[in-house]
Amino acid sequence: MIKVLSVFGTRPEAIKMCPLIQELDRRELIQNTVCLTGQHREMLQQVIDIFGTHIDFHLDIMKTEQTLTTITSDILIKIEDVYKSVQPDVVLVHGDTSTSFAGALAGFYQQIRVGHVEAGLRTYNKLSPYPEEMNRVLTSQIASLHFCPTKLNQQNLLAEGIKNNVFITGNTVIDAFATTVKADYVFKDSNLLDIRLKLASNNKLILVTAHRRENLGKPLENICKAIRRLHDTFTDVYFIYPVHLNPKIQKPVNLILGGLPRVRLIPPLDVEDLHNLMSLCKLVLTDSGGLQEEAPAFGVPVLVMRTETERPEAVEAGTVKVVGTEENSIFQEALSLLTDEESYAHMSRAINPYGDGHASERIANILEDKALWDAIY
Ligand code: UD1
Ligand code: UDP
Repeated sequence: MIKVLSVFGTRPEAIKMCPLIQELDRRELIQNTVCLTGQHREMLQQVIDIFGTHIDFHLDIMKTEQTLTTITSDILIKIEDVYKSVQPDVVLVHGDTSTSFAGALAGFYQQIRVGHVEAGLRTYNKLSPYPEEMNRVLTSQIASLHFCPTKLNQQNLLAEGIKNNVFITGNTVIDAFATTVKADYVFKDSNLLDIRLKLASNNKLILVTAHRRENLGKPLENICKAIRRLHDTFTDVYFIYPVHLNPKIQKPVNLILGGLPRVRLIPPLDVEDLHNLMSLCKLVLTDSGGLQEEAPAFGVPVLVMRTETERPEAVEAGTVKVVGTEENSIFQEALSLLTDEESYAHMSRAINPYGDGHASERIANILEDKALWDAIY
């Protein structure tokens, strides 16, 4: 038996780890245990409920005013007993959050091998995304197994001298669609019940999300002002904006966009509603990482409201465009896609580079083949 302990704690990690956990549960050679840090609460639980994932340990660390230090230190202190009691062959962490880094560091302290899912993404700017870029770099240094979504991610690690056990697997986010996306899907959230009617009357939908730490303050205000301007320009466009629960996001967003007739500021959607809504949208405006990988799978162009992205293969493929955080550039780029059919078609038809929906199987195959990685710590 190979003992695998998966550790995650935020919404995006859950969406990308739950398909893998389902796959690991199916494998006879693997004993699969799950530890939630609880860095997120409601936004994490929404995902767990949909995938029906078993939770074996829950550290429940979230605080309303949590900081990078409190998240990291609370996890380090609380997770030690879990690692000591499970004594896994490998701890799996995902991506770039404080949970990922703290989970990996705690593994190192117990001399347990760490497997990094969604490894090798880089901007090479320590401050953007902040602190995620550094979380990824540090986690790569600790990890013994690296599961890269794309060839470029693998090349990034090789260039940093990380050469052992670096696998290309695709991104498990595409695997999640097998659970979440349905052709005849009926929305649960009451804010979405009239969405199909709106589309039938030739209205367009734009999905908006924004939550990144480096966008708090002025950049987020700019983003909101650009949306307000787009709202005032296009009377046939509805904006659906599920607002992150962080009070530092809720306050400015409600202040600038609250009360506009075609902007719906709603609580975070569960991932089934979100994925199925996304598939019906004309356009996505976001600073999220995950949405850059997901929306193109439905032929929906993404404008990335950040100064750079750790997903340059999406830019190269033409599925996403980085538009910065200035009001005018966001407005102009969205205007262009809404009015110029040719540039819209160009983005909409580009091929999504993030995999074929079988990433979890590849990762599970590698984990089952312990002889492949056992020799190297
Ligand atoms: C974290 C990740 C970020 C990821 C994002 C996904 C780090 C450093 N950042 O950032 O990479 O993109 O999650 O959303 O790990 N809150 C709730 N309920 C919830 C979740 C959050 O109320 O279910 C509120 C709390 O007040 C919390 C605040 O949001 O203190 C911020 O949460 P935190 O995890 O610190 O940061 P995120 O911006 O969510
Ligand atoms: N998401 C969701 N509900 C929402 C907004 C986003 O389920 O209201 C999903 C989205 O489909 C994607 C993930 O959350 O899979 C992205 O998470 P987030 O933007 O919080 O983090 P990031 O990807 O930037 O790390």
